[in-house]
Amino acid sequence: MHLDILSLFPEAIEPYLSSSVIARARQADAVDIRVTNFRDFSDNRHKTVDDYPFGGGAGMLLKAPPLFAAVDHVRALRNLDDEPRVIMMTPQGRTFTQEIAHELKTERHLIFLCGHYEGFDDRVRQHLATDELSIGDFVLTGGELAALVVVDAVVRLLPGVLGNEESSRQDSHEHGMLEYPQYTRPRKFREWEVPEVLLSGNHKKIEEWRRREALAKTLTNRPDLFEKLSLDERERDEIVR
Ligand code: ADE
Repeated sequence: MHLDILSLFPEAIEPYLSSSVIARARQADAVDIRVTNFRDFSDNRHKTVDDYPFGGGAGMLLKAPPLFAAVDHVRALRNLDDEPRVIMMTPQGRTFTQEIAHELKTERHLIFLCGHYEGFDDRVRQHLATDELSIGDFVLTGGELAALVVVDAVVRLLPGVLGNEESSRQDSHEHGMLEYPQYTRPRKFREWEVPEVLLSGNHKKIEEWRRREALAKTLTNRPDLFEKLSLDERERDEIVR
């Protein structure tokens, strides 16, 4: 997979991409990630990339020309036949989910546009972006953290990136519910013991316990998700009572 992140603050992005799982995925060639500063594609000698909004109003907008030029540049460098998905990070986008992460992991080339200041000239949304994504109903100072969130969630789904494929299948949100609780040694810490069933060696009982715990946690923390699960009546009653 090829990823390009277009931002005015590459230095804010690069340390994360050079750490932990993402760094290993890059070393193993599971993903090729480049960060490009679109200030280098400014159309004026002062290297500005923002300007005042027509019609007045607070703040500055990112101008269209540098973003279009930067996307042309990264596409020419990659020289791939596939049309890239051009993903504009904005609090006005559709909310990113695990399902969207699975959809994006099948793409060959993703380009992320990170805004700053008050937003983008709308021609970027209309004629350059193929997708608008938000990471939640709050406003960040820029799209950099949001792009990293999406990149991280997608890269960990690529083949070979997580050592244990089973571990991502059990993740929260993979089955529309939250993950069950887990414990490791010691068996007793202060006065708190690991639930007996997990030490029993009875795999059927363990599976049943995990499913019940996952459902109970989903009901408590995310009633919106719980409502969408198709449970038989007996199981639903057992959790809700
Ligand atoms: N830029 C600023 N806030 C954002 C958000 N919540 N999601 C995506 N991009 C953003």
